[in-house]
Amino acid sequence: MEKIQRILVVYYSRSGFTQAIARQLARSCHADLEAIVDDSGRSRVVGYARSAVEAALHLAPEIAPSRHRPSDYDLVVIGTPIWFWNIASPVRAYIKRHRSAFRRVAFFCTMGGSGDAKVLRDLKYLCGRPAVATFSVSDAEISGRKHRQRLTEFSAALTASPSLLRGYQRRRIAALSDPMTGR
Ligand SMILES: Cc1cc2nc3c(=O)[nH]c(=O)nc-3n(C[C@H](O)[C@H](O)[C@H](O)COP(=O)(O)O)c2cc1C
Repeated sequence: MEKIQRILVVYYSRSGFTQAIARQLARSCHADLEAIVDDSGRSRVVGYARSAVEAALHLAPEIAPSRHRPSDYDLVVIGTPIWFWNIASPVRAYIKRHRSAFRRVAFFCTMGGSGDAKVLRDLKYLCGRPAVATFSVSDAEISGRKHRQRLTEFSAALTASPSLLRGYQRRRIAALSDPMTGR
């Protein structure tokens, strides 16, 4: 049975939520971890406003060179905070720089509470391929440690065989289109 061998978890985090998930995920699926680094000041009101504008206009700021080569990995897991219902601009810059090197991709996003379905869709289009699995989580769930079970399932999907992944994807699609949750 085919097994995914090498996994890279790549993320950008302004205030620590995405970093927390990325670290937990990398630990549970024995992945390497890459933090996207940019030098734009993103703290305080000015930094918040700049981040919102960059995300809304789909801008890609300058980011530092990466420590890992995505072409060395069977699967690249990309994590982004949601900014103004969009992919965070440093993550957009990373994907634009590296997307030709991706083999398989998976996505996760962190959020205050809305925009995940759109952002997961945008990630798929920006990467030019569907995800083997996706995961979205709110700050409240992370703070209350209510995300653990779902994160474990996401992590298991990343390391599962392709046939098991197809079952996971079917369940995710059903959950996303659930009219009761609206997600
Ligand atoms: C500029 C900006 C815009 C944001 N826009 C949204 C949004 O549209 N929807 C949402 O649910 N949360 C939004 N948030 C909240 C973040 O997505 C959320 O707090 C996320 O977990 C932050 O991740 P981080 O701590 O890794 O930076 C926004 C945060 C920032 C800084």
